[in-house]
Amino acid sequence: MYTVPKLEDYSPAALDKAAAELLAALDAEAAAVADAKAFEDFRNRWMARKNGILTQINDTWLKSAPGPAKRDAGQKVNQLKAAVEERINAAQNKASASGSNAKFAAETVDISLPGVRRPLGVKHPVLRVLDELVDVFVKMGYSVAEGPEVESDYYNFEALNFPPNHPARDTQDTLFIAGQEQRQQRDRLLLRTHTSPVQIRSMERLRPPVRVICPGKVFRNDAPDATHSPMFHQIEGLCVDTNITFGDLKGTLEHAMHSLFGSSVKTSFRPSFFPFTEPSVEVSISCPFCGGKGCRPCKQSGWIELLGAGMVDPNVYGFVDYDAQKYSGFAFGMGIERLAMMKYDVDDIQQFFYGDMRFLEQFA
Ligand code: FA5
Repeated sequence: MYTVPKLEDYSPAALDKAAAELLAALDAEAAAVADAKAFEDFRNRWMARKNGILTQINDTWLKSAPGPAKRDAGQKVNQLKAAVEERINAAQNKASASGSNAKFAAETVDISLPGVRRPLGVKHPVLRVLDELVDVFVKMGYSVAEGPEVESDYYNFEALNFPPNHPARDTQDTLFIAGQEQRQQRDRLLLRTHTSPVQIRSMERLRPPVRVICPGKVFRNDAPDATHSPMFHQIEGLCVDTNITFGDLKGTLEHAMHSLFGSSVKTSFRPSFFPFTEPSVEVSISCPFCGGKGCRPCKQSGWIELLGAGMVDPNVYGFVDYDAQKYSGFAFGMGIERLAMMKYDVDDIQQFFYGDMRFLEQFA
């Protein structure tokens, strides 16, 4: 194996001889490079900054040359540098060509085959219904508000007129964040059970007239079954102004249901209870599948219950500093998965969450 000799004699003849020996070694080693690994070793041996052969000739031939011989030695070293670089480049081309040839030989590519097509994604059916509803309300002049999914007891319950320990809290099986025992009840964190806390957050931020819708995820400790999921989506609506009446609520929801299910569906309002609305109602639509005669999706009743709503309870205005004498308003909240089940005749809510392509592809 070639090693760089010390030069005693700096005459042109002696420099030529030393250079010729080096080039002969260089050519022999370059010729032996067959693959990428061998090329790496070859390049390091000759070019490594620390102790590569080029560095060595620079140090032992040039730096230690006596004054008068420096010029000749410098020229020779520069010629050798250029030669080494040229051989390295050639060896690299050779090594990579042999690598890709081997790869081509291993893979026979039939270029007449069609390419791999990536299927285009589509909007998830739940998001589709959610966006459709948001559009309906935006056209009526509503703006969109959002709130946190990890919410405080104050916004999820207290400011919505659920007194501490009131049994109405039990209807929404709450998932609490662990380790909150030291905090006051109103500050304890939980996963919001409905989008209604965004009503409070919006009223804190805005003065009437207020028209907002709040879409988002909500969470309940409900066991999964055909109509329940521990995570689902709601859209909340809130309208507060002077002279807002129950008639406005009815007209607004009727318009939204007609936009979603067609103008022949009828709406029905039955008394209900929510702590933050008075009066409160459950709203049903006539079954869009059977037109009210009775079928499987409507469980033969002709009606499908879709959402909760009501006139904002004056107590709620007290939490956000609105004048309950001056303003009135309505609110509603609907479960998006249940609407999507109706719209697309899906009989199991879990289908929305399995991620089964055979189901999802139907919405492409
Ligand atoms: C509420 O959540 C109230 N915040 C609605 C409201 C808003 C009333 C504003 C008045 C004014 P409720 O608990 O009924 O109400 O839930 C509303 C809707 O969410 C239900 O009608 C149903 O469509 C849907 N829902 C409830 N629980 C689940 C669940 N586990 N999985 C899927 N959807 C659900």
